[in-house]
Amino acid sequence: MKSEYLVYLVCPKCEGGFEISKIYDINNDEIRSGLLLCSRCGASYEIIRSIPRFVPIENYASGFGLEWTKHKKTQYDTYTGLKLSEQRFFEETKWDRNLQGESILEVGSGAGRFTEQAAKTGAFIVSMDYSYSVDTNYEMNGHNGNVFIVQADIYSMPFKKALFDKLFCMGVLQHTPDPCKAFMSLLPYVKDGGSLVIDVYKKTISVYLAGKYYVRPLTRNIDPEKLYKLTKRYVDFMWPICSQIRRIPKVGRMINWALLVADYSNRGLKGQLLKEWAYLDTFDMLSPHYDYPQSIRAVKKWFQKAGLADVEVKYGYNGIEGRGRVVRRKASLSSQE
Ligand SMILES: C[S@@+](CC[C@H](N)C(=O)[O-])C[C@H]1O[C@@H](n2cnc3c(N)ncnc32)[C@H](O)[C@@H]1O
Repeated sequence: MKSEYLVYLVCPKCEGGFEISKIYDINNDEIRSGLLLCSRCGASYEIIRSIPRFVPIENYASGFGLEWTKHKKTQYDTYTGLKLSEQRFFEETKWDRNLQGESILEVGSGAGRFTEQAAKTGAFIVSMDYSYSVDTNYEMNGHNGNVFIVQADIYSMPFKKALFDKLFCMGVLQHTPDPCKAFMSLLPYVKDGGSLVIDVYKKTISVYLAGKYYVRPLTRNIDPEKLYKLTKRYVDFMWPICSQIRRIPKVGRMINWALLVADYSNRGLKGQLLKEWAYLDTFDMLSPHYDYPQSIRAVKKWFQKAGLADVEVKYGYNGIEGRGRVVRRKASLSSQE
């Protein structure tokens, strides 16, 4: 990290400001290894491999760390040659393509396929994740002068309040222990009038048809490295069968998903790319510690409770997408009336 990025950070314990108390390794102005010290409460946090770490490197999300280490590029548009991440990012956020001068907080970046998209807008991107996938994101996007990557927890983020013009959190909330609480914890970081965009898995009748919820109680407790090997073997074994099933009109892909093989053949992926996505997303179904899909009613209630304006919650990317504008002053004025 660069020392100038301190302006975004506060101590997650007391909201005090930081100083860089030790630098062990620096390259030009990039601090590769050092120590952040809170000038108020004295708490200290390490900078390791250029990333400030506010949580242990290994934690309940280590399965994601492994997933995004094995599949650094798999979902990047620059790798697939498709525009899947670009399309999803701009269609879901409905943000302009030029956001020069703005700042955006990304919560739960994974390998950083959306960090790349956000950075293209010219805005300054602060991107965080709980897992060690931040190392992959740093490898992929850390060279950008407008990207700052942090390892932290959604429930206790080390950022200044009301600082960001925009915040997005895609594919994350269902993987936290309490998705509603996680959603609420996003609000303080957005400026008054700023935009907040989330998506979350949907809970409909189809959840009961999804094979993954029957096997997850077992698989989510398997060591990620071991589970990844088992997943790969399973996908390899099933591949010839799934390739035939896929040909069944209308329901072929759905059958493959029910058989626990992620099938993205409807997205223009073919051959080895299609198989890579199958390894990645089959593991992604089986490994997360938490997987709590939400009903659209519940998500609408979150937005209502948060008092956001211009709210739109609908079925869409990743299940349910929600957008709104933070209107902190109006909300606090009306609560005083
Ligand atoms: C399915 S991945 C989505 C990654 C990325 N947004 C994408 O769509 O490619 C979910 C991410 O949520 C992160 N996550 C889970 N719990 C979290 C928490 N408490 N705080 C921050 N991130 C968390 C995981 O580490 C993981 O990288």
